Amino acid sequence: MADIQRDNSPDTTAVPHAVHRGDYQPPTFLVDAVALHFELDPAATLVRSRLVMRRNPLARESAGERAAPLRLDGESLTLRSLRLDGEALTADLYRLEPDGALVIPEVPDHFVLEVEVEIAPAANTELSGLYTSGGNYYTQCEAEGFRRITFFPDRPDVMARFTTTIVADRASCPILLSNGNPTEAGDLPGELPGELPGELAAGRHRAVWVDPHPKPCYLFALVAGDLVAVRGRFTTRSGREVALAIWVRRGDEDRCGHAMRSLKESMRWDEEVFGLEYDLDVFNIAALSDFNMGAMENKGLNVFNTKYVLARPDTATDADYQGIETVIAHEYFHNWTGNRVTCRDWFQLSLKEGLTVFRDQEFSADMGSRAVKRLRDVRGLRAAQFPEDAGPMAHPVRPDSYIEIDNFYTPTVYQKGAEVVRMMHTLIGAPAFRKGMDLYFERHDNQAVTIEDFAQAMQDASGIDLSHFKLWYAQAGTPEVTVSDSYDPSTRRYVLTLRQSTPPTPGQPVKRPMPIPVAMGLLDGEGRELPLRLAGENTTPAPGTRVLVLEEAEQRFEFEAVDAPPVPSLLRGYSAPVKLLGMPPERLRFLAAHDTDPFVRWESGQQYATGVMLDLVARHQRDGEAALAAPPDAGLAEAMAATLAGAAADPAFAAEALLLPGENFVADQMPVADPAAIHAVREALRAGLAARLAAPLRDAYDGLADDGPYRIDGASIGRRALRNACLGYLALGPGGVALARAQFDGGRNMTDVLAALAVLADTDSPERTEALAAFHARWRDDPLVLDKWFAIQAMARRPGRAAPDDLADIRALYTHPDFDIRNPNRVRSLAGSFAAGNPDRFHDAGGAGYRFLADVVIALDPLNGQTAARMVTPLGAWRRQAEPRAALMREALARILAVPGLSRGTYEKVSKALA
Ligand code: TRP
Ligand code: ZN
Repeated sequence: MADIQRDNSPDTTAVPHAVHRGDYQPPTFLVDAVALHFELDPAATLVRSRLVMRRNPLARESAGERAAPLRLDGESLTLRSLRLDGEALTADLYRLEPDGALVIPEVPDHFVLEVEVEIAPAANTELSGLYTSGGNYYTQCEAEGFRRITFFPDRPDVMARFTTTIVADRASCPILLSNGNPTEAGDLPGELPGELPGELAAGRHRAVWVDPHPKPCYLFALVAGDLVAVRGRFTTRSGREVALAIWVRRGDEDRCGHAMRSLKESMRWDEEVFGLEYDLDVFNIAALSDFNMGAMENKGLNVFNTKYVLARPDTATDADYQGIETVIAHEYFHNWTGNRVTCRDWFQLSLKEGLTVFRDQEFSADMGSRAVKRLRDVRGLRAAQFPEDAGPMAHPVRPDSYIEIDNFYTPTVYQKGAEVVRMMHTLIGAPAFRKGMDLYFERHDNQAVTIEDFAQAMQDASGIDLSHFKLWYAQAGTPEVTVSDSYDPSTRRYVLTLRQSTPPTPGQPVKRPMPIPVAMGLLDGEGRELPLRLAGENTTPAPGTRVLVLEEAEQRFEFEAVDAPPVPSLLRGYSAPVKLLGMPPERLRFLAAHDTDPFVRWESGQQYATGVMLDLVARHQRDGEAALAAPPDAGLAEAMAATLAGAAADPAFAAEALLLPGENFVADQMPVADPAAIHAVREALRAGLAARLAAPLRDAYDGLADDGPYRIDGASIGRRALRNACLGYLALGPGGVALARAQFDGGRNMTDVLAALAVLADTDSPERTEALAAFHARWRDDPLVLDKWFAIQAMARRPGRAAPDDLADIRALYTHPDFDIRNPNRVRSLAGSFAAGNPDRFHDAGGAGYRFLADVVIALDPLNGQTAARMVTPLGAWRRQAEPRAALMREALARILAVPGLSRGTYEKVSKALA
């Protein structure tokens, strides 16, 4: 047949429209099997597909109506040929829609469709679909990238069995990977099971992969190129031998050990904790530098950002090591929560993401310090999710509509979603939760399901009614819980009154009360746990933590037989993602020093410090610089001194407790933020504490000197964290710069070197210039380390230096020869770190910070809309700023919105921010 050459690049003039959750319809057609055949070429890759399809008996079609047409999603594909049941389709028998879809009006109930398209991986800067990076081929299909590879019903509830044949140049592409298990590579064309007939040209070779598990197309993956493997083996509980491999570029083999260890630990943990085993003969991980997110859970072939694979003590920090452990686990855990049981539609995204984040959090808690892991997760939730819940993009864990689904891979869907799963775990208890998981897999293996199905399994397994609880999935916004209490010594009764309210969010002006699990205890004046007997109970539980459920707008909890006036310890372990209000400072100080729950101890210290900082900000606004001259709050200084004195018991925890709440967190506690005052106050307080505690800080620093070999166990990480927390303070005192310089020069691992460099970057000293130059010279050819060099400077704020000078330096990094706007890691290192990690400069009153971010978004959007849209977020928070900042932020947003042909994602973020 004659070649058809029709390009279906998306129509950029159309106004983007929203997709609504309530409009869900089952797919009209199902795909039972799909055979894919790739002829790889950077400029023109041919993709042949053979789809075995049938009409879905469940699809709604009113009687008498004509059978619905076949519609296959497609985007930026050049259609080469089309056959239905072996017959070539002439142009009058199909059409290409403006959005790129292929429509065939007349098809039988069962048929085989053969399609050939051409795509251009080397020209694909979006990093969605099939693209090249460093001369190798990679795919990214979630959420809707498969339609950029071939025509297909690109929705997660169409699950098909995939066979993939890859043909490529043997010399430049020796490694050919896809999902499932490899079958033998064939010598003759068209002789392998499921393989499409074709010719094998000279110098080319091929491999065939068969994935026995039905899956949605967003889990498809192909990786091909000149890669080397670091190999491992794992024997599952039932005796299956799994060949593990991590595929990297030559030269990176010595940086895969931690990822491989983390993978094996994850596989073991999922067997032990959830009884879940791996289900293929191979598990491959491929790592690349050009990637829109952290990693992707494609069946049997996870694809990773190098940031979450590669680590060596001299190149990666402890935080990097911990990130690798968590992300490797996360993607591995998706094999069951996401792949074996997947999402019916993208509104259910948290079904897999919230649950899988909960699972990776629990895994990391079991691998290291549970307490430190928990408070870090909470800090992350507050840094990203709370602002989202309070801003223009606020949405429920299960959103109701979207314009671009890529915009909904959010802290709300991931982190708050994990908190919702955690609350269920708290409410029904660990054993019932495990039973619920078993039931979920028993009912839904190989299905695409909803959040309702998950909650139903938990409810049926536990016998606890979760119907009211499910409101957590539907209602956006962060609930506020207010505490008041009273104690009557004559009756020995203690009454705790809790009130809840949730602020309005876009589209949800009025909120209902939700069931909030409040894990709590009562402490006497010496910090001992009191028994917790609620009025009407006739037995007294052993002293310790119990979980109250606040379900109404206001509820009284009356405790009997309370022998002493108690201090309530609330939200132990952070049992619900809410804001707790109404705790007076004396109680916070008491809890910070005495509570038995480590989370509440840390939290109370942070809340106390926040109160001190807010007071100082108010005084600074009233009295100017003079407000900063006073010595630091005595309570805070004493608490810090106590932390240092007791640090040896748990250095990692002490390091966390020594850190003052960040500037963004403090800003979030104010009705209207004042970034400049917050920065001034925080720095003054840090300097005051450094002066007051100089001796114990120095003792701690010296006592923690790094002498042994580098180890990445929890104890060693904790010691480094504490030592570097001390350095952060010591740097502000006399001799601080020299101390940091010495650590920079002598540091034997990236954690210590980078901590010292960060300290130097915040000074205006020759040491700063020298250290940055030395670091660049040493690491200029190492992308992940060079990212750190960009990030440190983007977050730097030098005392006494004029804002325009700092901003000009940061802007100059954008034109640095090593800056590459096509690489998302580099963009995040510069622009992302700047906007999130340098609040005082980002919110420069002249607007230069906002203009810089807008310039980056405008330059990036035509190349990579997904990453550009993500960069818009900080500008959306303009309602929380005073003039002139708010107007300048709106101006930056309006300038982006005026750009013709904006990507759907950036359009959605910007238009919602301005609405
Ligand atoms: N599902 C992936 C995860 O959570 C994340 C993901 C979604 C992603 N969309 C992506 C990764 C696009 C890379 C690119 O693990
Ligand atoms: Zn995930």
